[in-house]
Amino acid sequence: MDRVFADNILQGRVAFVTGGGTGITGGIARTFAEHGAKLAIISRKEENLLPMKISVEQSGGECLAIAADVRNYEAVDKAIATAVEHFGQIDIVVNGAAGNFLCAADQLSANGFGTVVDIDTKGTFNVCRAAFEELKKSKGQILNISATLHYLATSMQIHVSAAKAGVDAITRNLSAEWGRHGIRVNGIAPGPIEDTEGMKRLLMPELKDKITRKIPLGRFGRIADIENAALFLTSDAATYINGVTLVVDGGQWLLGTSLA
Ligand code: COA
Repeated sequence: MDRVFADNILQGRVAFVTGGGTGITGGIARTFAEHGAKLAIISRKEENLLPMKISVEQSGGECLAIAADVRNYEAVDKAIATAVEHFGQIDIVVNGAAGNFLCAADQLSANGFGTVVDIDTKGTFNVCRAAFEELKKSKGQILNISATLHYLATSMQIHVSAAKAGVDAITRNLSAEWGRHGIRVNGIAPGPIEDTEGMKRLLMPELKDKITRKIPLGRFGRIADIENAALFLTSDAATYINGVTLVVDGGQWLLGTSLA
């Protein structure tokens, strides 16, 4: 997809992106760098971050890779401190670290449910909380990656649906509480995105055709669609947008076409 925004719209900003090594959030991190931002990318395992770090640096960008589990507040706090020590500031926080698998509710263990809530919901709170003082200084912003699974009901996804409903609540509550500090808090709810590793594994051609017929815009989303939404929401074009979770799904959830 051709670039639709000016190359320098995030020039001078520092973005702290959890889950920023791979998938949708990896795409967001990469496009932020391409539009002028310096990156700190965070994941449990450093090896998941290195290909992105190398690729951003080879393109002339700056990228710090920090291994930390978002479930662990002390580790998150340390990661924020490391990013600030390195770059001097944090302007944008993207909460993209997430856990996901398909499992029927009657097969899911309490620990399985809790693990996903811990990563997605508690992890999002941990990062927001740890970044608060820095975001207050920079009058920065938070972008939470959510989903549309919980708008209706999505079988095999009770854990992720509950976790992302919690993420949406965090987006709204923090936007209300932290707006007065000049901090904007928004979210993006992607629909089915065809070029993620998970979707490539999940999607048999027949299933893809069946679902595509039920998506109002007649196609699956691509990571680039989410990148563009993220660029818009974090750019100065969106300075009065606060507390919104932008659905980027071609209209899919309105027809209740579930992937699982
Ligand atoms: N089906 C059912 N339960 C599952 C499961 C699956 N596919 N994967 C994990 N669980 C359960 C485990 O059984 C365990 O519960 P138990 O102790 O009652 O058996 C619990 O979840 C924790 O699993 P564990 O693997 O110990 O946790 P973890 O912290 O190492 O990793 C995930 C949890 C979700 C991140 C891991 O399953 C994973 O790597 N998923 C794929 C990566 C991913 O989701 N990326 C993000 C894409 S949006």
